[in-house]
Amino acid sequence: VPAHAAPRPGGVPFGAAIQFEPFEGDPDYRRPYVSECDLVLPMNELKFGLLRPERGAFRFGPADRLVDWALANGQAARGHAFVWWSTNPDWLEAVTEEAEAERVLLDHIERTADHFRGRLASWDVVNEVIAHEPGEAGGPLRDSIWLRRLGPRHVPLAFAAAARADPSARLVINDYDLEFTGDRYDRRRAVMLDIVRQLQDANHRVDAVGIQGHLYSHLKIDREALARFGRDLEAMGVGLLATELDVIDFQVRGDADAIDEAASVVVGDFLDGLFAGQRPEAVITWGLSDRYSWVSDVMPRTDGTPARPLPFDPQGRPKAWYEALRRK
Ligand code: G3I
Repeated sequence: VPAHAAPRPGGVPFGAAIQFEPFEGDPDYRRPYVSECDLVLPMNELKFGLLRPERGAFRFGPADRLVDWALANGQAARGHAFVWWSTNPDWLEAVTEEAEAERVLLDHIERTADHFRGRLASWDVVNEVIAHEPGEAGGPLRDSIWLRRLGPRHVPLAFAAAARADPSARLVINDYDLEFTGDRYDRRRAVMLDIVRQLQDANHRVDAVGIQGHLYSHLKIDREALARFGRDLEAMGVGLLATELDVIDFQVRGDADAIDEAASVVVGDFLDGLFAGQRPEAVITWGLSDRYSWVSDVMPRTDGTPARPLPFDPQGRPKAWYEALRRK
């Protein structure tokens, strides 16, 4: 299994998350994934709650379809995510004993990684494990079922299980708010480096850090800090990739051109900082077309016009920032 699919000569591999419902329901939805992507990943179908709505069975079908379709197109695929605080099933909340929670975690990772072994180039082993505001009362890690039941050791447990179950997949720790200017973001970068260092000190394999890259048009990227973060990881032998790039634009006033222009600035700064640190393994956006994005649901624009977070507009035209990214 290659680390990621071969990009056009000299280019950084580009990928995008794909959603199962439009993949099945909208014939136009698939086409740009085939023409644009070196790599594809199921946006939601490998999350704990969607894979295992009931305790007894694994619902691998939708992710199998997306992954096998990508492989048949000659693309790579990746997995998102074994451990997350969100999108967990009710039955998991009802597991209260520490030893049982540990068995559930290990069994989940072993069986899922085993099912996809050889088909996924990388896995997000833990997703969003850093506290939203690290350094406050709760400590550096984010509250979750796994932290409550197992404590911080759920992180090395998950990495060890993933390494055993799929030795060929690259193992990624993935998180958000790692690229902006300010104390909160400095703390989040420092916590990420600490977690990776602790995993390495305990002889766990962690191959790369995933920077989600949910950018905001109104937040300033700290290019120098982002570059330093990339260099620090490189010195530790750890790679870097952007895993969920998009631009949240609810604070931008103006028409579509103004929104896209603001996005170009912030994406440009992000890519400058990212590439100045170490060459990313891949840059992956959280969807391809503005017609399908979580941003319109969760952080809609206040003027009622549609959000424009992704590389292609609702008519399927590429944005300038996407063309700049593809020249990298
Ligand atoms: O498919 C159903 C639809 O049938 C139903 O009518 C509708 C009603 O709510 O829900 C639809 O499912 C939604 C699904 O997205 C598909 O769009 C779920 O409710 C909704 O919870 C789910 O949200 C996803 C979210 O993670 C929670 O898992 C988003 O698509 C997905 O983009 C988002 O992705 C996360 C990353 O995993 C981690 N980083 C942040 C990122 C954005 O929040």
